[in-house]
Amino acid sequence: MAIDSATQRRIMGRFATGVTVVTTRWQDELVGLTANAVASLSLDPPLVLVAIDRASQTHAKLVASRCYAVNILSAEQQEISQRFAQRGPKDFTDLNVTTAVTGAPILGGVLGWVDCRVTEILPGGDHDIFIGHIEAGGWREGSPLLFFAGKYARLDVRI
Ligand SMILES: Cc1cc2nc3c(=O)[nH]c(=O)nc-3n(C[C@H](O)[C@H](O)[C@H](O)COP(=O)(O)O)c2cc1C
Repeated sequence: MAIDSATQRRIMGRFATGVTVVTTRWQDELVGLTANAVASLSLDPPLVLVAIDRASQTHAKLVASRCYAVNILSAEQQEISQRFAQRGPKDFTDLNVTTAVTGAPILGGVLGWVDCRVTEILPGGDHDIFIGHIEAGGWREGSPLLFFAGKYARLDVRI
């Protein structure tokens, strides 16, 4: 029996994740969206993947720019997650943006980040999978923002 999307969401929502904002820069425009379909794919070469909804506005910009940053949010950054989960242009003005190699925006205060060049775009149903080669990265100590069963959550540890 085929599973309906509400049931799939309910089941896969039991898989607790961190929360990231995937960003890029295209023709001086900064764009991005909240994403948790993110994985560390390979160590040698260093690759990560992100699955991006083909219907999102960010998708076309990622295809055009061929680069992205994955910004891993801290427990204090739930508002940023909510902001980047809204469809359409995002306000970066208060976010203390820096860049590393590709020019994709790295958000201030994140727990970790990787700056990637897109090496492959693979079809995945209503999403596309963007494989990125890590060109630069960084991290700091702190506590992550989590997403579980459709709600934000926190961890009681700080590492
Ligand atoms: C916790 C959370 C995780 C999400 N993960 C993804 C994801 O992995 N991929 C994706 O395409 N959208 C994901 N979304 C939805 C996008 O953030 C949302 O559709 C956003 O409005 C897209 O913005 P845009 O159309 O301006 O690009 C997630 C939303 C939330 C709240």
